[in-house]
Amino acid sequence: MKIVEVGPRDGLQNETAPIPTEAKIAFIDALSKTGVGEIEVSAFVSPRWVPQLSDAREVFGRIDRREGVVYSALVPNEKGLEGAIAARADKVSIFTAASETFNRKNINASIAESFRRFKPVVAGAQRAGLPVRGYVSTAFWCAFEGRIPPQAAIAVAERLFEIGVSEVSISDTIGKASPDEVKRLLDLLLPKVSPDRVAVHFHDTYGRGCENVVAAWSRGIRIFDASVGGLGGCPFAPGATGNVATEAVVAVLESQGETVGVDRRILAQARHLLDPFLIPERRSLPRCDSPACAACEFADQKGCSAGPRSRGQLSSRGPDGSRRCSAARAMR
Ligand code: HMG
Ligand code: MG
Repeated sequence: MKIVEVGPRDGLQNETAPIPTEAKIAFIDALSKTGVGEIEVSAFVSPRWVPQLSDAREVFGRIDRREGVVYSALVPNEKGLEGAIAARADKVSIFTAASETFNRKNINASIAESFRRFKPVVAGAQRAGLPVRGYVSTAFWCAFEGRIPPQAAIAVAERLFEIGVSEVSISDTIGKASPDEVKRLLDLLLPKVSPDRVAVHFHDTYGRGCENVVAAWSRGIRIFDASVGGLGGCPFAPGATGNVATEAVVAVLESQGETVGVDRRILAQARHLLDPFLIPERRSLPRCDSPACAACEFADQKGCSAGPRSRGQLSSRGPDGSRRCSAARAMR
């Protein structure tokens, strides 16, 4: 069972307000103490495309590395790999997509072109002794192309394995997948590849992130990407909100009888370190009465635990019309 905390990268890449480097370092140091196995620290991408993470090298240089935690970096090309190696990343992640349109918008390359770029990246990472993860973005739905056939995502995953990645993260970039779609894709993929080489990466736009985690878990997946507080989104995927919240993923896996080994109290402390810098409206908040709602640290406090009526008063409508909690915002 491994939680990959992607908040410092997937979360902070999407924040409009500048987050001081110092605050990122404190945030990552706090996350290191939560028990998560891996932290995606930052990305060595073009600072013109993602200015929010232009301090990746300094962040890597100044975090307090804890034994047993893997500190990884997102890299789109050889230049990114050079940056990650210089910064002493433990692992690198390359990223492509099952949707041509999204891939062009995200990394200015077709899917085929992205693989041409990745070959020397994987070879260079292997020479440097670094494991490589490969993301398959828009594995279910794309903001531009709509529904993506599972076969398209699987073909991309298989190509990633062919070029030498050790792990693939199947990603619901815009947070629109349903549990049935998750199961269908995994039922086609897992006969070809062992579940211990597959991670899932859910965004929570429609409040189904936790259900999707359980769906993937039921198929044998044990590597879950998540972002503390549900931070994040992709700047190049319009409408997408944050990742499924780490707190909620831990709670929902524990409710399945798993020992996750991540301390939710310390997670909440880590998240609060960012409070002064986040614009509340940009945060992804759980759907009322969802597992994420039950896992919320406010759930047992008056005014929220008082039940659906007061929860309703504190909610706003999500993109699918469902009620999304704003209690955390109101109580902060
Ligand atoms: P491009 O403009 O086509 O690049 O961008 P280029 O090769 O033509 O180079 C243009 C300039 O960028 C040059 O500088 C390069 O040196 C520089 P100039 O000569 O003009 O001064 N450059 C770089 N600088 C720093 N680091 C680099 C780098 N590469 C080139 N690595 C590129 C192509 C891939 C660089 C760009 O599109 C890019 O950086 N994209 C990153 C987009 C991104 O980070 N998206 C969010 C992450 S993906 C995501 O969130 C999805 C995920 O969470 C899973 C899911 O949910 O689906 C992973
Ligand atoms: Mg993502």
